[in-house]
Amino acid sequence: MRERSLILIKPDAVERNLIGQIINCYEEVGLKVMAMRMENITEEVASKHYAEHKGKAFYDELIKYITRSPLCAIILEGKDAISKIRQLNGHTNPAKAEDGTIRKYFGVNLTENCVHASDSVETAKREIAMWFPN
Ligand code: CMP
Repeated sequence: MRERSLILIKPDAVERNLIGQIINCYEEVGLKVMAMRMENITEEVASKHYAEHKGKAFYDELIKYITRSPLCAIILEGKDAISKIRQLNGHTNPAKAEDGTIRKYFGVNLTENCVHASDSVETAKREIAMWFPN
Protein backbone atom coordinates (compact mmCIF):
# COMPACT_ATOMS: atom_id res chain seq x y z
CA MET A 1 0.00 0.00 0.00
CA ARG A 2 1.22 3.52 -0.82
CA GLU A 3 1.96 5.33 2.47
CA ARG A 4 3.54 8.47 3.85
CA SER A 5 5.85 8.79 6.85
CA LEU A 6 7.34 11.69 8.78
CA ILE A 7 11.11 11.47 9.13
CA LEU A 8 13.35 13.60 11.31
CA ILE A 9 17.05 13.65 10.56
CA LYS A 10 18.06 14.59 14.07
CA PRO A 11 20.59 17.14 15.36
CA ASP A 12 23.50 14.68 15.77
CA ALA A 13 23.24 13.67 12.10
CA VAL A 14 22.76 17.23 10.78
CA GLU A 15 25.78 18.36 12.83
CA ARG A 16 27.89 15.66 11.15
CA ASN A 17 26.74 16.57 7.60
CA LEU A 18 24.88 13.29 7.10
CA ILE A 19 21.63 14.64 5.56
CA GLY A 20 22.59 13.67 1.99
CA GLN A 21 23.80 10.17 2.87
CA ILE A 22 20.68 9.43 4.93
CA ILE A 23 18.25 10.69 2.27
CA ASN A 24 20.15 8.60 -0.27
CA CYS A 25 19.40 5.45 1.79
CA TYR A 26 15.66 6.18 1.49
CA GLU A 27 15.77 7.14 -2.19
CA GLU A 28 17.70 3.99 -3.07
CA VAL A 29 14.78 1.83 -1.96
CA GLY A 30 12.34 3.85 -4.07
CA LEU A 31 10.97 6.26 -1.48
CA LYS A 32 10.16 9.77 -2.67
CA VAL A 33 10.86 13.04 -0.82
CA MET A 34 7.56 14.96 -0.88
CA ALA A 35 8.48 17.84 1.46
CA MET A 36 11.52 18.87 3.49
CA ARG A 37 12.54 21.69 5.81
CA MET A 38 15.16 22.60 8.42
CA GLU A 39 14.24 23.90 11.86
CA ASN A 40 15.89 24.42 15.23
CA ILE A 41 12.80 23.48 17.22
CA THR A 42 11.64 25.02 20.50
CA GLU A 43 10.96 23.04 23.70
CA GLU A 44 7.26 23.55 23.02
CA VAL A 45 7.43 21.82 19.61
CA ALA A 46 9.69 19.08 21.00
CA SER A 47 7.31 18.33 23.89
CA LYS A 48 4.39 18.13 21.45
CA HIS A 49 6.25 15.73 19.14
CA TYR A 50 7.43 13.54 22.04
CA ALA A 51 4.29 13.89 24.23
CA GLU A 52 3.98 10.09 24.61
CA HIS A 53 7.40 9.95 26.31
CA LYS A 54 6.72 12.66 28.92
CA GLY A 55 7.56 11.38 32.40
CA LYS A 56 9.98 8.69 31.18
CA ALA A 57 13.52 8.60 32.54
CA PHE A 58 15.07 9.70 29.25
CA TYR A 59 12.58 12.50 28.48
CA ASP A 60 14.57 15.53 29.73
CA GLU A 61 17.74 14.40 27.96
CA LEU A 62 15.73 13.77 24.78
CA ILE A 63 14.21 17.28 24.78
CA LYS A 64 17.60 18.89 25.46
CA TYR A 65 19.15 16.95 22.58
CA ILE A 66 16.40 17.43 19.98
CA THR A 67 16.35 21.24 20.58
CA ARG A 68 20.13 21.81 20.64
CA SER A 69 20.63 22.50 16.90
CA PRO A 70 18.66 22.25 13.62
CA LEU A 71 16.99 19.06 12.46
CA CYS A 72 15.64 18.18 9.02
CA ALA A 73 11.95 17.20 8.80
CA ILE A 74 10.91 15.20 5.74
CA ILE A 75 7.79 13.58 4.33
CA LEU A 76 8.63 10.36 2.49
CA GLU A 77 6.14 8.51 0.33
CA GLY A 78 6.18 5.08 -1.27
CA LYS A 79 4.93 1.51 -1.24
CA ASP A 80 4.79 0.20 2.35
CA ALA A 81 6.75 3.28 3.43
CA ILE A 82 6.15 2.86 7.18
CA SER A 83 7.59 -0.65 7.50
CA LYS A 84 10.27 -0.07 4.83
CA ILE A 85 11.59 2.99 6.68
CA ARG A 86 11.48 1.34 10.11
CA GLN A 87 13.48 -1.59 8.75
CA LEU A 88 15.97 0.75 7.09
CA ASN A 89 16.37 2.85 10.27
CA GLY A 90 17.05 -0.22 12.45
CA HIS A 91 16.77 -0.74 16.20
CA THR A 92 16.22 2.41 18.31
CA ASN A 93 19.48 1.64 20.09
CA PRO A 94 22.37 1.88 17.56
CA ALA A 95 24.32 -0.68 19.64
CA LYS A 96 21.58 -3.23 18.86
CA ALA A 97 20.88 -2.12 15.28
CA GLU A 98 21.17 -4.66 12.48
CA ASP A 99 23.92 -4.50 9.83
CA GLY A 100 22.94 -2.34 6.85
CA THR A 101 20.72 0.01 8.86
CA ILE A 102 21.05 3.78 9.20
CA ARG A 103 21.34 3.69 12.99
CA LYS A 104 24.01 0.96 12.84
CA TYR A 105 26.14 3.03 10.44
CA PHE A 106 25.51 6.52 11.79
CA GLY A 107 23.91 6.32 15.26
CA VAL A 108 25.87 7.51 18.30
CA ASN A 109 23.82 6.16 21.22
CA LEU A 110 20.24 5.54 22.35
CA THR A 111 19.42 9.27 22.50
CA GLU A 112 21.53 10.42 19.54
CA ASN A 113 20.22 7.84 17.11
CA CYS A 114 20.21 9.92 13.88
CA VAL A 115 16.62 9.48 12.74
CA HIS A 116 13.01 9.37 13.83
CA ALA A 117 10.22 7.84 11.74
CA SER A 118 6.47 7.45 12.24
CA ASP A 119 5.64 4.03 13.72
CA SER A 120 2.21 3.57 12.09
CA VAL A 121 -0.10 5.06 9.44
CA GLU A 122 -2.11 6.80 12.20
CA THR A 123 1.01 8.28 13.81
CA ALA A 124 2.24 9.41 10.38
CA LYS A 125 -1.01 11.33 9.78
CA ARG A 126 -0.72 13.10 13.15
CA GLU A 127 3.02 13.85 12.78
CA ILE A 128 2.72 15.09 9.18
CA ALA A 129 -0.15 17.40 10.17
CA MET A 130 1.97 18.77 13.01
CA TRP A 131 5.21 19.26 11.06
CA PHE A 132 3.70 20.29 7.72
CA PRO A 133 0.38 22.02 8.54
CA ASN A 134 0.11 23.44 5.01
P1 CMP B 1 12.71 8.13 18.41
O1 CMP B 1 12.40 7.07 17.42
O2 CMP B 1 12.79 9.53 17.92
O3 CMP B 1 11.63 8.06 19.60
C1 CMP B 1 11.91 8.45 20.93
C2 CMP B 1 13.36 8.80 21.14
O4 CMP B 1 13.80 8.82 22.49
C3 CMP B 1 14.20 7.70 20.52
O5 CMP B 1 14.12 7.77 19.11
C4 CMP B 1 15.57 8.01 21.12
O6 CMP B 1 16.20 9.09 20.45
C5 CMP B 1 15.20 8.51 22.51
N1 CMP B 1 15.46 7.56 23.60
C6 CMP B 1 16.36 7.73 24.57
N2 CMP B 1 16.33 6.71 25.45
C7 CMP B 1 15.37 5.86 25.02
C8 CMP B 1 14.88 4.62 25.52
N3 CMP B 1 15.35 4.05 26.64
N4 CMP B 1 13.90 4.01 24.82
C9 CMP B 1 13.40 4.57 23.68
N5 CMP B 1 13.83 5.77 23.18
C10 CMP B 1 14.82 6.40 23.84
